[in-house]
Order: sequence, then structure tokens, then C-alpha cells
Amino acid sequence: MINNKYNQHLQNNTFSTLFVGQNLIKLSEVDSTNNFLKELVSKSEPLPEGTVIMADNQYAGRGQQQNIWHTEPGKNLTFSVYLKPSFLNIPQQFLLNMAISIAVNEALTNLLGSGVSIKWPNDIYYKDLKLGGMLIENMITGSRFKSGIIGIGLNVNQQHFAPHLNGKATSVYQILHKDVSLKMLLTDICSHIESNYLKLKAADYLYLRNAYHKRLYRYHEQHKYRHNGEVFFASIQGVRDTGMLVLLEGETEKEYNFKEIEFLN
Ligand code: BTN
Repeated sequence: MINNKYNQHLQNNTFSTLFVGQNLIKLSEVDSTNNFLKELVSKSEPLPEGTVIMADNQYAGRGQQQNIWHTEPGKNLTFSVYLKPSFLNIPQQFLLNMAISIAVNEALTNLLGSGVSIKWPNDIYYKDLKLGGMLIENMITGSRFKSGIIGIGLNVNQQHFAPHLNGKATSVYQILHKDVSLKMLLTDICSHIESNYLKLKAADYLYLRNAYHKRLYRYHEQHKYRHNGEVFFASIQGVRDTGMLVLLEGETEKEYNFKEIEFLN
């Protein structure tokens, strides 16, 4: 049922969006789609909002916290979307991450059914394994956003991972045991990005906060975390619009930013 819906929607192999993906630039090879898009934004004529850069082979992909994003050429989705959320204030900046994470989660839930979640801040998980991640790079002028480069990497048709990723990463192939069309999955993700981005533009923050929390990995569950070398049990109470994670340890609520806290198994 879930897969039928997905296939039907994607049989139409064109973007049914108003702007996200309408200007699609497909590269056979690039260092990083985020770098390419950033350079395009700084150099060229005004770039249409919603421009997507997709690469078959991204050989120097960047992940969060200066990590490298490795991906097998031709097997996975590596793309970047250009957005101009100039209507958003800086303290609300994480609402953009929420909108995009929800969108990717929705498209993957169409494909995989239950089990897909968002691991704070914006990793895409299937059960306890990482299916993909995002690198969102914002350019800010004064107190407003100028532009956002939304880089998304998803493990799609890759069958095997390096040994150090065993028990950490998974792919659509490993879950469904079949290849799926990268273009069709990209099309579906773009249409979900557009509808959630339009909710952000319409200031429907309540919807976005609820949808994000509903999909949040380990939300309201007791698990182990590490902060400054100290290991403790806590449960996630929520994520602020600024992106801070709120943990409840015993009776005490504390807020953490991305670099301060580690999820343990
Ligand atoms: C992470 O989980 O660490 C984030 C990974 C983000 C990878 C994507 S792939 C497309 C875009 N270009 C990059 O260089 N990085 C992002």
C-alpha cells in the first residue's frame, strides 16, 4: 500500500513543484554540491530560488562537524537546494532545519513505511541506523537570512558500507532489497521540501514544531548521553526554535547545542 502510493506518485517523472527542482543542474562529478552551489550563488546572475544541484559522483562531500561525507558514485542521492528564507529571523533559524528534515522524513516514510525518524538535529534514521544527513549552510546579512544552501546526502542503492560504518549506517537497498530510482526519490523529496518550506513562509510554526517532534528519534524516551565526559540517562523533552536540545535528567532540564552532547547506545 505504502509502496504503491509512492510508485504512483513517482510514475510522473517530472517535477510537479512550483519552484523546488524546477531549475535542476545535474553534474556527473563534483567535489561537493554545497561548494558548487555556493560558488554559483556568489558568481552568477540571481539564481532562481529552488535551484537543485545533483551529482552522480561527489568525491569530496562535506558532513557536519568537519566530517567527510563518503558515498559510492552513482548509487546515492547527493544534492543541494538553494532557498532564500529572508522572511526568517536568526533566532528562529532552526525552523528551516525542521521544515527540511520533516520533508525528507515524509518522502522516505512514503517509500519505507514506519521506522524512519529524525535524529536531532537533522539526521535521517531508520530504526537505529543512519540513512542520511544534511548540511545546511546559511548566509546571513544583519539580522536576516540572505540564503540557505541545503545539502542532503541519502544512502539509497548502496549495498555495502565500509567496516567502520557497520551497525551505524544503512541504505534504502538494505531495507527494501531492491534498487529505487534516484530521480524519482529526488522528485518526491523536492515536492515535500516545497510544501514544508511554504508552511515556514506562511509562519505555520506550530505545524512545523509538531511535525518535527512527532518524528523525533528517542523523543520522550530514557537513553544514555554523554556531556563533558559524564554519562547519564535522560529523555528528550524537545528542540527549541534556536536548535538547542532540551534534555530532562532526573528532575532537571538542561539545554545543549550540537557539539555539547553525544547520543550513546
Ligand atoms: C552529515 O550527516 O554529516 C551531513 C551530510 C551531508 C552530505 C550532503 S551530500 C550533498 C551536500 N554536499 C556536501 O558536500 N554535503 C552535503
